[in-house]
Amino acid sequence: MQMNIESAVLDRYTAGAQAREESLCCPVDYDRNLLAILPQEIIDRDYGCGDPSRYVQEGDTVLDLGSGGGKICYMAAQLVGPRGRVIGIDMNDEMLALARKYQSAMAARLGSDRVEFLKGLIQDLALDIEARERWLRTNPLNDDAGREQLAAWEAQQKAGKPFIADSSVDLVISNCVLNLVADNEKRQLIHEVFRVLKPGGRIAISDIISDRPVPAEMKNDPELWSGCLSGAFHEAEMPALFAAAGFAAVNYDKWDTTPWRVINGITFRSVTLTATRPVIAGATNTYCELVYRGPFAMVIDDAGQAYRRGERVAVTPERHRALTGPAYAGAFIDLTQGAAESTGCCSPGTDSGGCCG
Ligand SMILES: C[S@@+](CC[C@H](N)C(=O)[O-])C[C@H]1O[C@@H](n2cnc3c(N)ncnc32)[C@H](O)[C@@H]1O
Repeated sequence: MQMNIESAVLDRYTAGAQAREESLCCPVDYDRNLLAILPQEIIDRDYGCGDPSRYVQEGDTVLDLGSGGGKICYMAAQLVGPRGRVIGIDMNDEMLALARKYQSAMAARLGSDRVEFLKGLIQDLALDIEARERWLRTNPLNDDAGREQLAAWEAQQKAGKPFIADSSVDLVISNCVLNLVADNEKRQLIHEVFRVLKPGGRIAISDIISDRPVPAEMKNDPELWSGCLSGAFHEAEMPALFAAAGFAAVNYDKWDTTPWRVINGITFRSVTLTATRPVIAGATNTYCELVYRGPFAMVIDDAGQAYRRGERVAVTPERHRALTGPAYAGAFIDLTQGAAESTGCCSPGTDSGGCCG
């Protein structure tokens, strides 16, 4: 039977919010000056594996994916200063309660209330899950018609008023959370990060990677998954997925040579991946997706962009027009579909992949 990832992760971190869990803690050398004003309870409930707060700049609007007890958000709040803003997003009520418990005390220490904690799913940043919960209270799901109404409500909410707006964030950070998202939702998660970033915006993602693919029996183990291990990206896959989503300058800025854990011969280590959302002159929030058909394993275009056979690649509208034109005579499958006729490309995250996927 397939493991239910969301409930395994919810159970583990509900317990982790209530009492420190040693096995979830990966040693990190945080900046002690930034920890000095944090409540001890928040420092103790640290389940991070890196320190993405190091990438925060003065004046940034920062989004922390899977903010947990709020440690990195309160560290980032000191760095953004009074002109900046920090948003922590988490799906776990206990973690949100822990982070919010100190919000007013921290606002007093910081000199302004510049941090907020929102309930949400990091793989679906457009969806307002609390509004969805309210809608479901008055519209219980009894049959297929009810499910269709819910799908229509969600599509309208996400398109009309995305929970985290398009192009609204300077820096997306995360500390040991992306590995907890189901493998089949990781690509959508990365597109969502791209969508919410301003052009020129940055990411600093601290996470766990593996040196070999993790086998199915380990992926189906709720302890290993919720313990930030079996959902880890493969070391080659993580930068490739971000590059394929359109990010530039994708870089392992930190790579722990000492493994965090070795299980069944697979090495799991902590890294921090950085990248930027390119600024495209004249483009708004659009992207297109192509897949190279083959027969070669990989081809490289004149701009140096590589296309591996069968792998989705996000390209700019200009490159999309060139590669789907007669010069390349059907070498690429265009996943932009209907949107190609109207706008040339589509906006990521406005639906669950239907437009480009
Ligand atoms: C390993 S803890 C890390 C917490 C925090 N970043 C830190 O440094 O201590 C993972 C956190 O991510 C949250 N989380 C896991 N999957 C999530 C998802 N799909 N959407 C939102 N939050 C999620 C969990 O509730 C938990 O608080």
